[in-house]
Amino acid sequence: MLKGLLFDLDGVLTNSAKFHLAAWNNLANELGITLTDDQLDSLRGISRIDSLNLILKYGGQEDKYSEAEKEQFAAEKNAKFVKQVETMTAKDILPGISKFLVDAKKQNLKMIIASASKNAPRILTRLGIMDEFDGIVDPATLHNGKPDPEIYIKAQQIAGLQSNEVISFEDAEAGVAAIKAAGQFAVGIGNKELLKEADYIISKTSDLKLSEIETVFQKRK
Ligand code: BG6
Ligand code: MG
Repeated sequence: MLKGLLFDLDGVLTNSAKFHLAAWNNLANELGITLTDDQLDSLRGISRIDSLNLILKYGGQEDKYSEAEKEQFAAEKNAKFVKQVETMTAKDILPGISKFLVDAKKQNLKMIIASASKNAPRILTRLGIMDEFDGIVDPATLHNGKPDPEIYIKAQQIAGLQSNEVISFEDAEAGVAAIKAAGQFAVGIGNKELLKEADYIISKTSDLKLSEIETVFQKRK
């Protein structure tokens, strides 16, 4: 029986993903690295330091910088990102999400945030939806980032639920992989090819319909 919903944040509830990708692209250019669209897309859902390491790898610079220099680069990228976050308002909640959250509340579903972003509380507060959620995974407590299932297992534990009682939402390939590795039902929002491992895929948040997703969830094996 469905008892809870676990949400990624960036690219699912709001389009802060575009701010992350722009800030990373900017930093990559400063380091003399040109990222392809696919390389940029592969950063979705990946933690701050893992994203930086991936960018350096794409640029063939994985051994070029010390840990302290990398910390500095990550801090510079974050400062740019936070500046963009400070401009966000409730208008930045993606289409269909507010109604979806209301529908979920009516069914008393537990709702937890499973975002790799240390900025998640700041973003949710800007959007004015912090109080809609029953809990949030603190990414500082995680040992492994997505695609490791740890974050979705923690979110499920915060909800006090079993893997067959939750539906989890993601826009990132690494995120869908994390959900599936946690043994949960995955809803992928975005590129159908990239998210093909999800149990239910839609191209945009305005297509989210809780009753339809529940029908597919109930028929699962
Ligand atoms: C994820 C984003 O939610 O959080 C990634 O999809 C981002 O792009 C990651 O790198 C970490 O975010 P932050 O805010 O802690 O740098
Ligand atoms: Mg995301």
